[in-house]
Formats: sequence, C-alpha cells, structure tokens
Amino acid sequence: MNWGFIGFGRIARKFLESLFAVEGEVPYAFASRSNAQTLQQEFPHVKVYDSYEALLQDPKVDVVYISTTHNFHCENTIAALKAGKHVLCEKPMGVNSHEIRKMTEVAEASGKFLMEAMWTRFLPAYNEALRRAKAGAIGPLNYLTASFGFRSEDKLTAQGRLLNPELAGGAFFDVGVYPLTMAADLFGWHPEQIQVTARVGHTGVDESVQVQLSYPEGALAQLFASVTTGTNKEACIYGQDGFIRLPLFWKAQSFEIVKGDVIEKVELPFISTGYAHEIIEVRDCIRRGDRQSARVSLNESLKSAQLVEKIRGHIFKEV
Ligand SMILES: NC(=O)c1ccc[n+]([C@@H]2O[C@H](COP(=O)([O-])OP(=O)(O)OC[C@H]3O[C@@H](n4cnc5c(N)ncnc54)[C@H](OP(=O)(O)O)[C@@H]3O)[C@@H](O)[C@H]2O)c1
Repeated sequence: MNWGFIGFGRIARKFLESLFAVEGEVPYAFASRSNAQTLQQEFPHVKVYDSYEALLQDPKVDVVYISTTHNFHCENTIAALKAGKHVLCEKPMGVNSHEIRKMTEVAEASGKFLMEAMWTRFLPAYNEALRRAKAGAIGPLNYLTASFGFRSEDKLTAQGRLLNPELAGGAFFDVGVYPLTMAADLFGWHPEQIQVTARVGHTGVDESVQVQLSYPEGALAQLFASVTTGTNKEACIYGQDGFIRLPLFWKAQSFEIVKGDVIEKVELPFISTGYAHEIIEVRDCIRRGDRQSARVSLNESLKSAQLVEKIRGHIFKEV
C-alpha cells in the first residue's frame, strides 16, 4: 500500500524506519506544514506536500499515518477518512470520548479502516509477558506498577507540544496512556476506585501524574506519568507466587519472571524500530477488508478516552 504521512516530526522518522522493514508497504507521500522544503530535499523519491489537504487529494495515497499534535488528531483523521483513506492515528487518538465517537461515526460511514497507534499492543515481548501473567505463571494477579516519565530539556518550552495546553500537551495524554493501557490489559477498563495526584505546571498542563486504581476482583495498580521527571519506565506485574518485570515496558523486548530465587529471562526483540508490528496489523486488516482491528478496536479507544477523561477530571476538576 502507499502510505501518506500527515505531519512529519520526531515519531514519523522512527515510524518510517519500521515502514521500510515491512514488505510491500511504501512511504509514498509526506505532508508537513512546517518543513516541506527540507523534507523534499532529504527524501527526493517521496512526494512532499506543504498542506495536509493536498496529500489527502492524492488518489495514490491508500492509507494515512497521522502524527500531528494531540489537538489535531480528530480533525486530521476525519478529513482523511472523508477523503477515502484508511487511517492509523497516533495516540491518544482523541482528547476526549466525544472526539472518539465522532471519528468512529465517520469511519463507519466511510467504510475505511481506522486504528489508534497503540503500538505496545503488538510487541511480541509485551504480549508474551501478559499472556504468561494471565495464564497463571505467577499465580493470581494482585498488583501492577508501571511508570513512564521522561525529561527532554529541549521539548519543555512553553510553546512546545508537551507543555502547551493549546496542543493538548500534558503527561497523561502523552505518556500516561501507556501504563493505563497495560493496567486495562490486565484488569479491564473499569476500576472501581480511582485516586489521582498531579503536579500542574505554570502553563496549566499536568506535568506529573500518579494514579492508583483498584479493581472489583481486588487487584490494584499504581501508575505514574511525567514529562518533567525521568523514571525507569518499568512495569512490574505482581502475582501471589512471584512477579514479572518488563524493563522499558512500552517498547519491551524482554522480560523476567521471578519466583523466589529463580529468574527466567525471556528475550523477544521487535522488528526494526518496533512499529513494524502495528504496520503489519494495519496491512493485514485492510487486506482482509476489516474496518478496525480486533486488537486495538475503536471501542477500546473509546474506553481508554473515557478513563483518561475521568483521570483528567480528578486533576482539573472538569467532572
Ligand atoms: N508511538 C510512539 O512511540 C510515540 C512516540 C512519540 C510520540 N508519539 C505521538 O506522536 C504524535 C507526535 O509526536 P512527535 O513527538 O512526533 O511530535 P513533534 O515532532 O513535536 O511534532 C509532530 C508534528 O506535529 C506538528 N506540530 C508540532 N508542533 C506544532 C505546533 N506548535 N503547531 C502546529 N503543529 C505542530 C508538526 O507537523 P508538520 O510536520 O505538519 O509541521 C510536527 O511535525 C503525538 O500524538 C505523540 O503522542 C508516539
């Protein structure tokens, strides 16, 4: 298929490397509002547009990868679907549940494929660790800790996308969705209690957030997200008989199962920069004629957005 990129920033470059690794998938066109000329020089064999609309009007584009800032995801996705393109949209696909519902409606009316780019769900190590945990490798599951905190000085300007509320910045939108998705993968999307504490910075976005969840079956989760504090980015699933540790869990390539003094190490590297697995899912779904992925369904995106809404409600007292 011919891929068109809407927005071409940091993640688009990493995604592109993975696209090259998937046979038959072609980076055909890029659209960048800020950087088209330079990109055209760098990628002479790719069509480069300076407007998103122009790329969407190109009949040779089959599928669009959207990696703009969070505030634009809904608008860009709807425009792409209406132009008759399949869409893979970066996380979070929408900044609230209303946006996800609108995007889903347009996807259904257009008959085109739409998926949120929750790439961790396709990583072999992540999936195997969760499969083993659920299959009883460490006994009944009691507790999850997962943190994703990073700090890049150059990204922390007031205008930059991480701290700018106009661009839907903030830690929970940017990285909180990863630990939250892992908690949901283990315990479901409906915790019965949610406790949130957060640091809201001078620009008005959540810079660091800690969330404690308790689930009806008795399991607990402790999650942390930050764009100002680097953490070990580790997840640990605790069961009655031991624990499973995933270093760098959102881009996992290995994990350890620890039971008493016995440590089993499992290595399951990903292809290229890791995004190849979600690209293969998109390709396979579209080839089969599926309108969404069973592994990151639009209903999952809705549930995620609803839970993020509740968490942000605790931070900003919106609900
Ligand atoms: N899956 C992952 O592992 C992963 C990792 C990092 C980020 N992400 C997600 O990918 C998306 C983009 O992240 P990124 O790190 O690539 O962001 P980025 O490099 O800062 O920006 C991406 C694009 O967004 C547009 N943009 C940036 N700042 C803007 C502004 N002030 N006004 C208008 N447009 C602006 C630009 O589009 P133009 O090129 O058109 O100018 C830019 O190329 C986000 O949804 C993020 O959560 C995913």
